[in-house]
Amino acid sequence: MEWQVLVLVTFGNPKRSKRLCDTRFVAVEREKVAPRGLEGVVATTTAICSVSDNFLQYRGYRIEELAGKAEYEEVAYLLLNGELPNKVDLRDFKAELTKHRSLSPFLRGILQEMSETGTGMDVLRTVVSASAAEDPAEGDNSREAEYAKAIRLTAKLPTMLATYIRRRRGEQPVPPDPTLGHAANFAKMAGLDHPRAAEVLNTCFILQAEHGLNASTFAARIAAGTNADMHAAVTAGLGALKGPLHGGATDGTMKMLDEIGAPERTESWVEKAIASKYKFSGFGHRVYKTEDPRAKFLRKFAQELSKDWKGPKYFEIQERLAAEIERQRPKMSPAAAAKVNVVNVDYYAATTYTFLGIPADLGTSIFAVGRMAGWCAHIMEQHGDNRLIRPESEYTGPSGKRWVPIAER
Ligand SMILES: CC(C)(COP(=O)(O)OP(=O)(O)OC[C@H]1O[C@@H](n2cnc3c(N)ncnc32)[C@H](O)[C@@H]1OP(=O)(O)O)[C@@H](O)C(=O)NCCC(=O)NCCS
Repeated sequence: MEWQVLVLVTFGNPKRSKRLCDTRFVAVEREKVAPRGLEGVVATTTAICSVSDNFLQYRGYRIEELAGKAEYEEVAYLLLNGELPNKVDLRDFKAELTKHRSLSPFLRGILQEMSETGTGMDVLRTVVSASAAEDPAEGDNSREAEYAKAIRLTAKLPTMLATYIRRRRGEQPVPPDPTLGHAANFAKMAGLDHPRAAEVLNTCFILQAEHGLNASTFAARIAAGTNADMHAAVTAGLGALKGPLHGGATDGTMKMLDEIGAPERTESWVEKAIASKYKFSGFGHRVYKTEDPRAKFLRKFAQELSKDWKGPKYFEIQERLAAEIERQRPKMSPAAAAKVNVVNVDYYAATTYTFLGIPADLGTSIFAVGRMAGWCAHIMEQHGDNRLIRPESEYTGPSGKRWVPIAER
């Protein structure tokens, strides 16, 4: 805190203005301008997730405890309720998800209209937003209503994405199968015939289910902080996830690997990239300084799945790229060299999804499917103890300008 800014105050109280001048400058106590990008700023408290270097835990469970062991449905339940479900809780939770996986003709119609030209993230954002129009609890921010909406949104998002995938291939959508769980259902509806699709996606959804106050969750909490409802807040989150500095880096990774094209081209490509201050998708993180704990799981998947992959040598390229960036790091600015030290979640998620048969431009959309439970948990937490999130800005533009009639400009 510091004494920093002088503001002009007009006192309205006539008694006081006898003692003081009508107008005068007073010093007021203001916070310093926060660091750019709010780096290091603790903006709220949360009981959902904790993230620090090489450390990620959901509701007290480290990611290593959950990934490869749990079902996505258990983790979604954990995020929304604070505890892992017992057998009965899980059965009931799954039954609710099953009940809500199908899409109405209204949503299927929008998907049909948009699938030819819309990108995956644009389509998901739009259809999620539109689903507010038919949700029976639209505008109801009570805990019970929000819990029911969280289940509906979590259940429907994979169906939306799978329908989009089918539609843009000119195929009929495949309806959800009530005998299958979350990941297996998506794999079937999307037509992924890789034998490991359901198992691998289940773990990927868990790894991406939640991540503290990342940009999309912050966006969702800001929208929720105005007392806007869950659909509005999730739509805000989906908008923020699209960007290449956030979830968009998954699709960005595939574009980058395609641009490199072959492992032997990597060295010269990196040289040029560093010279042009290129931002390598899948490298760098705001919180993780040495390791993103999710990346090791995804690298293992990518490595295993690459063995049966018949397309471009993506895994070889990305291994060579990581090694080459490491070798050429001394050519970067110290800040950039420190950032690219970390391979983040998006890097190997991108190839893992591609090797499962998911189109290269839809990795970010898959990320959204996993993240839905985390967004909903944060929106409920925000509404449970809400205060409007409304920071200030320090004005740096001109002042005192006079209006000039249009004829004189
Ligand atoms: C994740 C990310 C947005 C974090 O950004 P940040 O904490 O704001 O860090 P900055 O963007 O301020 O970066 C600091 C320096 O490192 C550089 N840098 C950061 N990430 C870089 C990357 N992936 N490749 C090359 N340089 C990078 C910046 O250009 C900047 O360099 P400069 O000081 O010489 O101008 C950033 O690392 C990034 O853009 N990564 C690529 C996109 C990505 O993978 N996003 C997914 C994150 S999970």
